Amino acid sequence: MNEYKISKRLCTASSHVRDGAVVADIGTDHAYLPIYLARHGRIKKAYACDLNEGPIQRAKENISKYNLDDIIEVRLQNGLDGIEALAPTDIVICGMGGELIASILDNSSYVRQKGIRLILQPMTFVKELRKYLENGFSTIAENAICEDGKIYQLMCVEYDGTQKTLSNVELELGPKNLINKGIEFEKLLFSTIAKKQKILNGLRLGGYDTTQIEEEISELEKLK
Ligand SMILES: C[S@@+](CC[C@H](N)C(=O)[O-])C[C@H]1O[C@@H](n2cnc3c(N)ncnc32)[C@H](O)[C@@H]1O
Repeated sequence: MNEYKISKRLCTASSHVRDGAVVADIGTDHAYLPIYLARHGRIKKAYACDLNEGPIQRAKENISKYNLDDIIEVRLQNGLDGIEALAPTDIVICGMGGELIASILDNSSYVRQKGIRLILQPMTFVKELRKYLENGFSTIAENAICEDGKIYQLMCVEYDGTQKTLSNVELELGPKNLINKGIEFEKLLFSTIAKKQKILNGLRLGGYDTTQIEEEISELEKLK
């Protein structure tokens, strides 16, 4: 088998998919992730799902190129619409805004079942997504991923029905990331502080109240 390479971001997401899983990749675009999993013999079945025709065509072409049409089914669908019929064990939603991911999850009761694994990689609004997940989801694993000068966050969660209350720092950087730390976490921490510092400078210039952002920066500085 020729090596099939995908980005570190998608490779990290794929590492949380359980062996033998039935996977739904929501917002699959090119279908790189299900193709990677299928080529490595990691999954029983995958559904490569997308809302738009362009990505659906790209996914179909790529899947056929690797003769994986019997393992990966392409579906034009909005979020998790009709997901019950597919019965995925593992659901991947990567490369979308955190608020969109939260709204996709909120529109489906299927994800609120024990044993269904969610692998989420928000591009923006990470804190807001974690806030949403406090409503009954527990964090199994998290990653900070540095690639091409950018830092991404990824969380693998499952529903347990228990309400959580994360601290501000946990919402920002992730409860598991804070425990595991490591080089990529350090980069995430420094870049988060730098972003907040910029906001602080802007607020100061505009003569606005900076109490809250100063408190947030000082909390983060303690982690250095
Ligand atoms: C930036 S791409 C991410 C592709 C891939 N998941 C990744 O992380 O590299 C986002 C994809 O999500 C799709 N998308 C956006 N909203 C969606 C929705 N509500 N349901 C399904 N797919 C959606 C877009 O059409 C697009 O193909």
